[in-house]
Formats: sequence, structure tokens, C-alpha cells
Amino acid sequence: MPSPDGASDESKDMTQVYFNGQWVAPDAAKVSVFDRGFLFGDGVYEVIPAFGRRLFGAAAHLDRLTRSLHEIGIEDPLSRADWLAVLARLVADCPTDDVSIYIQVSRGAPAKRDHAYPNPPVPPTVLAAANPLAALSPSVLKEGARAITVPDVRWGRCDIKSVNLLPNIMARQQAVAAGAMEAILVREGMALEGAASNLFAVIDDELLTAPLGPHILGGVTRNALIDLVRRDRLIPLLETPIPIDRLFDAREVFVTSSTRDLLPITRINDHVIGTGVPGAVWQRLSAAFAAHKAGASV
Ligand code: PDD
Repeated sequence: MPSPDGASDESKDMTQVYFNGQWVAPDAAKVSVFDRGFLFGDGVYEVIPAFGRRLFGAAAHLDRLTRSLHEIGIEDPLSRADWLAVLARLVADCPTDDVSIYIQVSRGAPAKRDHAYPNPPVPPTVLAAANPLAALSPSVLKEGARAITVPDVRWGRCDIKSVNLLPNIMARQQAVAAGAMEAILVREGMALEGAASNLFAVIDDELLTAPLGPHILGGVTRNALIDLVRRDRLIPLLETPIPIDRLFDAREVFVTSSTRDLLPITRINDHVIGTGVPGAVWQRLSAAFAAHKAGASV
């Protein structure tokens, strides 16, 4: 029911967000029109999952946030302990047990628009908010998902988790319009990663994924899976870019991310991947990863 000032009463009950050092209702968190995140996409972000109200990979996500901030010359606004306290409160307050936490830090709002960094610096704009995280649907787990390939037109620092996501969102939108769940980005004939995920393929009994470097994001899910595969010798693993024609002929393909775990891909463009259903390697690795998630927190 709207209250006399027009704000809905529900907003008072909405889970609060962390915004510039305060806990406020989402609609009370207001960003200046001069915020450089708004004007230039001058900021970085993280997406951190919690399953059964236990954070997964938080340390690695916060390490990556610190690194992204460092690479673009913004000082990390919170200590590790303060970030963890913010995450813990967001997870505790979220109505669902599985949660995806969004963090964004922009270079703040100087009085005037200027491409160069403000000198002296102004306080960064800091947001952390929780969203319910839905598991993959049973039909996707049974049949796998469709993907399309698109040219990778992103910049040369994809290792920075920047909020400049136009190429990623245009690629994902192209995928959605084609009835697919992900767009696989192809640079110079090599399939590198998804619009918001890392890419794995099983080819000749080996698991292939692109190496870390400026052309992909070092995914926390990717890195945790690689550690697990190597530790438990689940399958020989090669960090190498995947030629696009070999991807179409792969026995299995899947993509990884904090919000979709290991998502099996069974169709890419007009190609059926392997037998057309999620394969044995994906099944084994998903089970191992689920067990790892259940056992590991931060
Ligand atoms: N994106 N590559 C890109 C380009 C990504 O945007 C993401 C994640 C990944 C996977 O990273 P991780 O395993 O750490 O989630 C790889 C998040 C989920 C997003 O933008 O919403």
C-alpha cells in the first residue's frame, strides 16, 4: 500500500543494501548524476555466491576485487574484515538460503565531468546488495543448454572485472534472442570464454580451458574447479585456448560461473555437442564441485 509520501510501505521491509558506509533500503540509495560509474563505466564489481547461507569463494572474490581496484587506481574502500562483515549481514538478511551478492565500487562523483581521474581523488561510491540465487532448472541439467558464438569485441583487459559490460550484454542479448543461455566469445579463431562465464571443453580425453591472461576473466569458479580437478586427478587438464572448430567437435562443453555453477552446453549454433545431452565428465565434475561447495566456505 502506498504511503502518503508515495513510498511503498513494503520498501521499509525490503532487505537493506550497504551503500557508502550506511545500511539503507534499496530505494534510499541514490547515486549522483556525476558519478563516474554512471558517466564513464568507471568502476569494478564482483558477484559472490552463498549456498545454504554459506559464502563460497569469498576470499578469492575479494582478492579479485582488490586486484581490479588496484589495476584501475582506486583504493579498496573497506578492509577485508569489513567486507566480510558486510557480506555476512547481506547473507543473513536475504530471504533465500542461496544468495548472490553484488558489489560495485566506482571512482565516485567529482563536481565536473573530466576523463582524467579526479585529482585529488573523491570518495568512491560503494554498493553491496543481495539477490536470491536460483539453482539451474532440472530441464537444463537433464538436456543441457544452447549457446551461440559471437566475435569477441571487448577490450584488451578482460581480466579486470569492470562494469563496462556493453560487449558482454550485447552478446548475451544476442544469445537470449536466439533462445540460447550463453554467448561464447571468439577472438582470432579461439573460443575464450562466455559473456559472463568461463568455457571448458572435453576434447580427446582432456579438459581444455583458456589460460589466464588479459583476454579472459580469472573466474573464481574456473579456478576452484581447476584446483579440484588437479588435486583429485579427475581428468587431464590443459590451459589452452580452444580453436572454434575443435569446440564444435568436442565431446562435451560446459561453462562455469558463480551464479550457474557448471552449466552443460549441448548445442552451439547448429552443432550438437557430443551425444546431445550432458556428458559423463560434466556429471563427475559437477558432483565433485557440489561436494566441494558443501564442504568449503570462505
Ligand atoms: N560474471 N567471465 C566473465 C566475463 C564473467 O563476467 C564471469 C562472471 C565469469 C565467471 O567468473 P566467476 O566464476 O568468478 O563467477 C567469467 C558474473 C557472474 C556476472 O557478471 O554476473
